[in-house]
Amino acid sequence: MLLLQLAAAALWLLLAMPLLRWSGVLMSFWQHALGAGAVAVFLGLAWRLPGWWLPINLLFIPGLLVMQGLGLASSWYLAAFAVLLLVYGGVARSQVPLYLSSRKAWHAVAGLVPAHAAVVDLGSGLGGMLAFLARQRPEGRYVGVETAPLPFLLAWIRAQLGGARYTIRWNSLWKVDLSAFDVVYAYLSPVPMAALWRKVQAEMRPGTLFISNTFAVPGVEPCTVVQLDDLHQSKLYLYRL
Ligand SMILES: C[S@@+](CC[C@H](N)C(=O)[O-])C[C@H]1O[C@@H](n2cnc3c(N)ncnc32)[C@H](O)[C@@H]1O
Repeated sequence: MLLLQLAAAALWLLLAMPLLRWSGVLMSFWQHALGAGAVAVFLGLAWRLPGWWLPINLLFIPGLLVMQGLGLASSWYLAAFAVLLLVYGGVARSQVPLYLSSRKAWHAVAGLVPAHAAVVDLGSGLGGMLAFLARQRPEGRYVGVETAPLPFLLAWIRAQLGGARYTIRWNSLWKVDLSAFDVVYAYLSPVPMAALWRKVQAEMRPGTLFISNTFAVPGVEPCTVVQLDDLHQSKLYLYRL
């Protein structure tokens, strides 16, 4: 990410700016910043980064310059960096960033969970899905696993404050024994889906339910697709084992 931004800045400074000056095009400071951002977008597309990198790549350099203009103390940058690291530090390896299931997804999943079911949210983020299920379907058993330190901590505190009606564990989803659950919920990314499906098939019991929000298992027909009327028009892909 940082390398890509450095490459974009270098390309803009060393190639685009002299070329623009030579052809008599005058641009403001911010137009140059956005120009460098546009180069970063182009590099991101060339590297086939997922679509959500697009706005980040476009606005990273302009954002950096805005922040510099604010004249904030360096400790703020360090604090912001630490927060980002604690939330997104593992993304380079897992390829699964933090974004949250919509309320519509919470409601839909609550309607799919059988009575007294044991449910696990693989990569539980801030624990919103589990908190909702524990409120709506208090007879069930709910577990979340999360590896990002800050989301784990916030979800854990949330669970304690809410009466600990669900459990949040700091653990990798790859280490969870899925045979202990009747419903497995995942909202991850396209990257782990094939490997996760192998784990699901190896461990989940016949008759249990695997639900993937947004990301279908490649090459496997879901038994049902639930269309959600949320902001992203998400789909829940249901696989009955
Ligand atoms: C897209 S978020 C979904 C959050 C939550 N399940 C929800 O629906 O609101 C995916 C989460 O999975 C976590 N994650 C990624 N890889 C993981 C792993 N190997 N084990 C546990 N959690 C993981 C990320 O840190 C992130 O919080």
